Amino acid sequence: MRKYIFEELDSTNNFLRDKKDLQEYDLVVARTQTSGKGRRGNQWRSDEGAALFSFALKKDKNLDLKEYRKLPLVAGLSVLKGLSDLEDLEFQFKWTNDVYVGGKKISGILVEMIGDFFIIGIGINVNNKEFGELSERATSLSLETGKEYDIQGIVMGVVNEFKLQYGRLLKGEWSELKSEMNCLNYLKGRRVSVQLPDRIIDGIAGDIVEDGMLELNTGVETMKLDIGEVHIKF
Ligand code: BTN
Repeated sequence: MRKYIFEELDSTNNFLRDKKDLQEYDLVVARTQTSGKGRRGNQWRSDEGAALFSFALKKDKNLDLKEYRKLPLVAGLSVLKGLSDLEDLEFQFKWTNDVYVGGKKISGILVEMIGDFFIIGIGINVNNKEFGELSERATSLSLETGKEYDIQGIVMGVVNEFKLQYGRLLKGEWSELKSEMNCLNYLKGRRVSVQLPDRIIDGIAGDIVEDGMLELNTGVETMKLDIGEVHIKF
């Protein structure tokens, strides 16, 4: 595994996207990002003290492309397990690929497909403590525990955890992975509104089911969501 460490990058995902001789598990870590990318074209606040990293995964020819739709979920579970090894906090998994603690987001994941590779970009709020206008919705390890952490150690812990969890997916253990996610399912039982391309639907979120979709009970029917964004209604 090759590891690249930078003081500053535009985006660790972009670094791997543009790398000419990309290899599986190439890992890049940046202390800060000038254009950190979130999902759906959002910006990702990339302050010093956060763990900001991406790694490359080569498509496995034995795994059907549709199985890769589960990759963000497997990455999310890996972050959660990596953080749980470190601290006994009530981390929860928010479908599709966020980690929450105490009702606030502590980590987000952006998976991009580039040729034969997936770039898995992970941001974890670790020692950073300022979230400005996001402070009602975001937290960090340090804010939760008052401690300071070794960011490189956390990055390696999460990447190693990902290798384990992805190995389970390759071995056909999706059903067990899904059960573990459902035990930690932040959205379950919550009223959510879901932004679809053409409309917004309201309902109560349920389990993560086969294919990694999320059940939504609208009161009229139980739908399965695999697109769109889930907003929690307050
Ligand atoms: C999200 O929650 O919207 C996903 C956020 C992903 C942020 C990480 S930080 C490291 C990597 N590089 C990026 O530009 N984005 C991801």
